[in-house]
Amino acid sequence: MSEPLRIGRPHERPAPPKAEDLNLHFSERAVQELEALKTHYPDLKACVLPCLWIAQREYGGFLSGEALAEVAFRLKRSYAEVEGVATFYSMYNVAHKPGRHKIEVCTCLTCSVCGGFRVWEYLKAKLGVENGQTTPDGVFTLEEVECLDACDRAPVIQVGDRYIGPVNEATLDALLAELRASEESSVVQMANEIVQVHLAASERA
Ligand code: FES
Repeated sequence: MSEPLRIGRPHERPAPPKAEDLNLHFSERAVQELEALKTHYPDLKACVLPCLWIAQREYGGFLSGEALAEVAFRLKRSYAEVEGVATFYSMYNVAHKPGRHKIEVCTCLTCSVCGGFRVWEYLKAKLGVENGQTTPDGVFTLEEVECLDACDRAPVIQVGDRYIGPVNEATLDALLAELRASEESSVVQMANEIVQVHLAASERA
């Protein structure tokens, strides 16, 4: 009989990073928000998701290794645990630093039937980037994504907290012009809004 899979006990897992090994970036406001959130969860582990949103805002929309290490340090978790959570959810930007606006294009079944790939090809050509790339001016990052759960608006795209659809070449041109001149719906703004929602939900609880 084979040996049962052995799951490491908490004291056997890697320790959290040490403060002296880190260059901490959280602002005073971020530290206060995190302290408020900590009081509304049963343990520090439950704070990983909201703390990642704080970090995504504080680090300019990107969860670099440094950002993940700071979250691990502040919540007394191992780096591996925080990295595992952050890389599981696609809304955390861990693969690359996004531009000011992240445009997510759904090419899943309903959207593809309704022209999702035409939208995808149009935006790639218009912006001159491939999947996951950012325009040279740092304004747009383009990503192809799975179903955004807004199939009734197919073909649909997501920018920040906005779902926009059905889109076509004309509406996309207008949207790009609007976003170029705007800080609204940016990756940093979206992270901040989610932090505020977490704080408000905690206060209601
Ligand atoms: S298939 Fe595109 S939102 Fe569902």
